[in-house]
Amino acid sequence: MWNNITSCSLWRLSPSFMSSRIQTLTPLFIRHCKDFCKNRQTIWTLRNSLCQVLKKTVPTLTCNMFPHCFVSNKARYGQYKKTFPVLDGSIPSVCEHVFEENLRNSEACIQRYSELLCKVSKGGGESAILRHTQRNKKLLVRERLRMLLDDETFLELSPFAGFDLPYGDVPAAGCLTGIGKICGVWCVFMANDATVKGGTIYPISVKKQLRAQQIAIQNRLLSIYLVDSGGAFLPLQAELFPDQSHGGRVFYNEAIMSAMKIPQVAVVCGSCTAGGAYVPTMAEETVIVDKIGSMFLAGPPLVKAATGEDISPEDLGGASMHSKVSGCVDHFASSEKEAYECVRNIILTLNYELPPEETLEYDDPLYSAEELLGLAPRGYSYTLHIKLAEDHTNRLKAQASMMAAVACAAVPKITLVIGGCYGNESYAMCGRSFDPNFLFLWPNARVALVDSRHISTFPQARDDDCTGDDSELKHLKEKLDEENSAFHSSARLWDDGIILPQNSRKVIAQCLTIMKQQKYQIASLQHYPVIRL
Ligand code: COA
Repeated sequence: MWNNITSCSLWRLSPSFMSSRIQTLTPLFIRHCKDFCKNRQTIWTLRNSLCQVLKKTVPTLTCNMFPHCFVSNKARYGQYKKTFPVLDGSIPSVCEHVFEENLRNSEACIQRYSELLCKVSKGGGESAILRHTQRNKKLLVRERLRMLLDDETFLELSPFAGFDLPYGDVPAAGCLTGIGKICGVWCVFMANDATVKGGTIYPISVKKQLRAQQIAIQNRLLSIYLVDSGGAFLPLQAELFPDQSHGGRVFYNEAIMSAMKIPQVAVVCGSCTAGGAYVPTMAEETVIVDKIGSMFLAGPPLVKAATGEDISPEDLGGASMHSKVSGCVDHFASSEKEAYECVRNIILTLNYELPPEETLEYDDPLYSAEELLGLAPRGYSYTLHIKLAEDHTNRLKAQASMMAAVACAAVPKITLVIGGCYGNESYAMCGRSFDPNFLFLWPNARVALVDSRHISTFPQARDDDCTGDDSELKHLKEKLDEENSAFHSSARLWDDGIILPQNSRKVIAQCLTIMKQQKYQIASLQHYPVIRL
């Protein structure tokens, strides 16, 4: 349970549940919780609630913990420090072998993470890159982002989405998404990578775009679309259309976001066919790049087949046609560079009020973030001292209360899975179905209904699937092992990405700053979207 951390998971718990659970809160955990927080106040608040529970008083911490993270208040800081002195977090010698084992496992996981990241960053591969840059004279998606964003410290979301799916590898789901700053404003971006099958949309690409839009809606973030897409990936069209969360939902969301006054800006920086053409047409302001950008519902070959007419892409739906005749776009740019400058100008004209610059006062962590690699759990058969046997008393009721509290908590939520997240833990600790603002995994994390390492103890598995045959049991275990892995989860977009333990503090701080921005926006509904006439 304590392998996951959410902002709000520690309040309004039943005392019996909490007092049973607190036994598992080891000094190591407490010590390293500091690494997840911008300052110590959050962990102190957390410990405060735990202490209240131990005294058998039900905590009603109705406060949002996040504002504490932004308050630079020396008096309060001093008070917390006095009430809750820093614990001695030295690792007991009896646990050192666990630390070493975890460390080795983390190193192996990080190696896999790095190899995969390298593979994903090559998009559709060498020949597709050459076709994209030399024949089609377009910039690569990461070069585009470099021109668009203030700096390179953007938060990339789910880079492993699309990895090793039943229908093959789709690097980064053929679409980069993330949150970066433009002229000081945090914006969600969705950028097709046309080196992956012409930027066509796979089922996983739809899921990734929908998740990015959901983040934009939940956090009231301005959205930018860099569109370079051949529309639906036709061999998988049946999985892209027409269900509720299929392709059409992207356009539906665009309208809803517009009605919510969440500004959306698009750049047509490639050939945008069919579904790819609706995204810029439904955005509130759109820039098209001359000679590179085009938009049509059906391209020249289809026109030829349907009407017999020969027509060039430029005449059918090029930059001049759309900016002079159709009115589907608002700005004509003669180069990609000019287009991204134009987007930056558009953002400036929105007159966003930015959160004031703050000088935060906080202590640096007492221990190196690298140490987290030894604390990232490999397994639980040899974990630290834990008293479980109370689990049986009130578990169901306590979990139901916890789930209700997490679901209804009106505070921003960040979930970080640092170890096993099995079955109902995913609900009570704010997994995907409980709508956290952000959900990340460490590379060693395992997400599944059951822990594959316990498979042999499940009579059902042995009887029905394996009929006593050890090789079948082994095969089943291997399959579940793979399905438990963080990479399997991230490939399917059950999270917002895998992050390295050492980067947890940085990523969470970034999320906190991003979430804070919405306080400074006017988010009133205008009830109707911007419509091109
Ligand atoms: N579905 C599946 N695969 C597609 C595709 C689609 N809609 N559109 C393109 N591809 C594939 C191509 O087969 C090619 O695959 P390969 O690399 O394995 O050979 C790859 O994407 C790149 O296409 P290519 O035409 O060689 O590249 P390009 O940069 O010259 O053009 C497009 C890219 C998208 C502009 C062009 O392929 C196109 O117009 N496709 C048709 C789009 C369409 O009609 N969509 C309708 C959707 S409802």
